Amino acid sequence: MTTIPTLLADQLTRALKEVFGGEMPENSSGVSVSAAQDLRFGDYQSNAAMVLAKKVGSNPRELATKVVEALGDMSFATAEIAGPGFINFRVKPEYYGECMNEMLKDDRLGVPRVKTPKRIVIDFSAPNVAKPMHVGHIRSTIIGDTLARLARFMGHTVITDNHIGDWGTQFGMILWGWKNILDRENLEKDPINALLDVYKEVNKRCKEQPHTLEDCKAELVKLQGGDEENLTIWRRCIEVTQEGLKKIYDRLDIHFDVWLGESFYNESLPGLVESLINSGIARESEGAVCVFSDGFHKPQNDPFLVSKDGEWQPVPAIIRKADGAFLYATTDLATLDYRIRHFHADSIWYVVGAPQEKHFKQIFDIQRMRGISGDFRHVAFGSILGKDKRPFKTRDGETVSLQDVIDEAVQRATRVVCEKSPDMPDDEKKLVAEAVGIGAIKFAELSQNRLSDYVFDWDKMLSLSGDTAPYLQNSYVRIRSIFRKLDGEFSLPELPLQLRDAAEIHLARTLVRFSEIVPSTLDDCRPNILAAYLHDLARAFHSFYEACPVLRSDATVRDSRLALCELTARVLHLGMDLLGIHVPERM
Ligand code: ARG
Repeated sequence: MTTIPTLLADQLTRALKEVFGGEMPENSSGVSVSAAQDLRFGDYQSNAAMVLAKKVGSNPRELATKVVEALGDMSFATAEIAGPGFINFRVKPEYYGECMNEMLKDDRLGVPRVKTPKRIVIDFSAPNVAKPMHVGHIRSTIIGDTLARLARFMGHTVITDNHIGDWGTQFGMILWGWKNILDRENLEKDPINALLDVYKEVNKRCKEQPHTLEDCKAELVKLQGGDEENLTIWRRCIEVTQEGLKKIYDRLDIHFDVWLGESFYNESLPGLVESLINSGIARESEGAVCVFSDGFHKPQNDPFLVSKDGEWQPVPAIIRKADGAFLYATTDLATLDYRIRHFHADSIWYVVGAPQEKHFKQIFDIQRMRGISGDFRHVAFGSILGKDKRPFKTRDGETVSLQDVIDEAVQRATRVVCEKSPDMPDDEKKLVAEAVGIGAIKFAELSQNRLSDYVFDWDKMLSLSGDTAPYLQNSYVRIRSIFRKLDGEFSLPELPLQLRDAAEIHLARTLVRFSEIVPSTLDDCRPNILAAYLHDLARAFHSFYEACPVLRSDATVRDSRLALCELTARVLHLGMDLLGIHVPERM
């Protein structure tokens, strides 16, 4: 199915060529058609006449008039001129009717596949072993999973990689704690929290007793030197952490193709640093090995410079410390190499909080210096705030763990479900509460512009009437209940749907836009575009359902309206699947 903006762009190109005597003016890029901002003026609009008039130095309104004439009678839409030279298009209701039938026959509901599929590695979640998983990891986990779903659906090959922090200075404390204070029973029951308790306790003792800090450092040195006992404990820590994490991810229906943590790259680090020195990209500075600016960028765009006291000062990327230790940046360079070599990645997306912006800019820029190209993106995001607009914390000021957030969401959702459907069997209630609670957290995240901070508000995210997952799930459930009342005597219409009522036309117009929205979410990795769309769709459906009787209409009108209901349900379902949100049949 060709999307309407594509059809319109084709027609516009044809008309423009006619006006310009056979060919488009030199160096003109493709014409763009976008959804109209204001539905009173049409469904779609284009500024092509204005752009081209400027290029060839003619009057934009005159050019637009000629273009509209050349467009002539289009079978599916009408065109008119507005303002200084915009061309507005209105799609004919009959054509929307045809689109509805096409969509009903299509598993992809009209969404085209990309023409040139890519191999994309998506790096997300990536918590650190034996350290608290903070809210940044929650955002990364949810956004990353959705991007993976969207990219796969569009036809790309996606490799999801959980690059956990499994090699770091925290292991000095963990090893000492494991040997001296670990509660083994707790480790069996709840490994992630047991390790976390060890980390917190040892951290506290190190602050109070310098000799403990020294002992921890000694444990770390032994580990790095390959001490068998310490390596065994370290491996065990990673194992239990992975097991614990997998339980959480399973509950969230989030899965990774590979778990290549930081330690996976340890052996390649010395060679990498040597090669960067040999190629002149890195050099020694005060005993450390660093990469400095190569002057390629203007200073204000240079990730290796910072402005201080009116001067540009160097901020090198350190890749080996004076004591020989490697750093986060070194590992990320090795990781990037591996992903290109091993996974043949064309593109790598790092779903990591905004504070790491400088780090990724430096990494990508070092790749440029090495002559390695690719579409590398830092998909950054802001913070989650509490209702007091301060960083989201528990009551005793601790970071909020993902596990606790999930538990509380499901608990609260259980109350919502019990109130709404007291007669539902208990095991179904449990499943629905899980879908509603987890859906609510995911949607609250995904409906935000990822770069903004947002306030975590339980009541808002679980409301059945706001911009929430429960509202969308409930809309779907209401549509399904229409079909249950019908006792099965409905077959999808063969003829184009007859759309007469304004609310019907608006619903159809919204449904068709699904095919444009889904691809656009990947332009800048913005799942919130899809979330906002689903909310608009549900609202269009409710207006339609209020204005247009469905089951009480006579046969042809009824079947046509039922087809609109069916299609709305399918789009809602697929749209929520792409956001990783489960949709119950009843709630
Ligand atoms: N473990 C890191 C952190 O918690 C995130 C890792 C992100 N991925 C990467 N390739 N650097 O901040």
